[in-house]
Amino acid sequence: MEEKSRGQWTSGFGFLMAAVGSAVGLGNIWGFPYKMGANGGFAFLVLYLILAAIVGVAVMVGEIALGRRTGMGAVGTYIALSKRFKWVGWLGAVSAFLIMGFYSVIGGYVIKYFVLNLGMIFGAAPGAGGDIFNALLLNPVEGVVYTFVFMVATCVIVMGGIAGGIEKFSKVAMPALAVMLLIIIVRAVTLDGAAAGLAFMLKPNFQPLRDDFLGVLKTASGQMFFSLSLGMGCMLTYGSYLSKKENVEKNSWLIVVSDTIVALLAGFAVVPAAFALNGKASAGPGLLFVVMQDVFAKMGALGGLFGAIFYLLVIIAAVSSSISLVEVVTTFFMDSAKAKGKEGNRKAIAIWVCVVMMVLAAITAIDGLGANEKFWKPLGFAWIDFFDLWSEGIFMPLGALFMSLMIGWELGVKRFFDDILGGESFKTRKLFEISIKFIVPVGMLIVLWGQLQSFGILK
Ligand code: PHE
Repeated sequence: MEEKSRGQWTSGFGFLMAAVGSAVGLGNIWGFPYKMGANGGFAFLVLYLILAAIVGVAVMVGEIALGRRTGMGAVGTYIALSKRFKWVGWLGAVSAFLIMGFYSVIGGYVIKYFVLNLGMIFGAAPGAGGDIFNALLLNPVEGVVYTFVFMVATCVIVMGGIAGGIEKFSKVAMPALAVMLLIIIVRAVTLDGAAAGLAFMLKPNFQPLRDDFLGVLKTASGQMFFSLSLGMGCMLTYGSYLSKKENVEKNSWLIVVSDTIVALLAGFAVVPAAFALNGKASAGPGLLFVVMQDVFAKMGALGGLFGAIFYLLVIIAAVSSSISLVEVVTTFFMDSAKAKGKEGNRKAIAIWVCVVMMVLAAITAIDGLGANEKFWKPLGFAWIDFFDLWSEGIFMPLGALFMSLMIGWELGVKRFFDDILGGESFKTRKLFEISIKFIVPVGMLIVLWGQLQSFGILK
């Protein structure tokens, strides 16, 4: 009965779509293709797949199982289950704010490009991607307004609740995203010159691993982590609304495999298009906001239509991730109210959480992701880098590190299987055990080190 009053996913499929929605986001569509492009193509891909199967699945299982066991969000779960790691849930709650501090700005920019391509359908001149992007970065008002629109969309869905908002949206949005992505891929791989991009992704070439193994490893593991929404309590929170009838191992594999497939498909959409335009996959934000826009602009009559489809699918991917970030904190306040014997007002909580996140995001938007130097020069760092460093760079790897130590060494794997997982069937036991006790902790230290290095804090 208790579970009922807190809300629950109405079906296993609903949970799966929501979790895949959280995982599939800007990390897949924007991050994966350019990181693969900059880190050796095929070699990066192979390493990524191995990491996702060994480290990603284990952490996913851990998070979903912990949340489902306690029926509480990240903060409550660690307090309930651990002596040494009571405070780990807080890392997640703080990370949610920090990530939204830049994620929603990029999401807002995508909305701007969607509007632009809609305009092209009705005859507006396309304009060059580079000019549009630079103007957008340097326009604080526009940046804040689009960020606000993105935030409102996120907030409205979370206000609807677990089943009535997040699940309802994800069940429609995720399949729609898949269809739109397939349309874009067909268009991208049939462009003149696209074949070189496909070859770049698929032709076996392990030289990059020989040249810089650790470099590729740390980029691939950091990417895998962010892309799977791990280490900050999102999957744990979603797991807390999952019925005990659902098998955690099976769902974890499905989420990881789906997320990886979408990353690959995004690669098939973006990399060949970039090659068709420039003969290479360029790096950074440019790929999504400059190169892709130029690709659509060059397509002629149907460019606006394909562009609108493409940016709409990116919006869906980003919103289905941002709702999970807002839910982490919303669940925390709902749980706290419940612990005091009160019923939390979900709508009011979600609005307040989004208001605070909007304040952080407005800073990043005004800052133009760091392009508006005069706003941050006196501080010495761009806000997006600051938010990103503390969330993706430090709190998330630490969160996963401590979770694996808690499961592998404090609770112990036996108790994890018997009690936390309630003795349900689990096929890859040995792999999980080795992974959670040894590979994840070591892997997280490598990610942490790699992140600190890429932010220039460690040499
Ligand atoms: N996984 C999301 C993406 O790839 C980002 C995200 C990270 C969402 C952490 C929630 C938590 O875009």
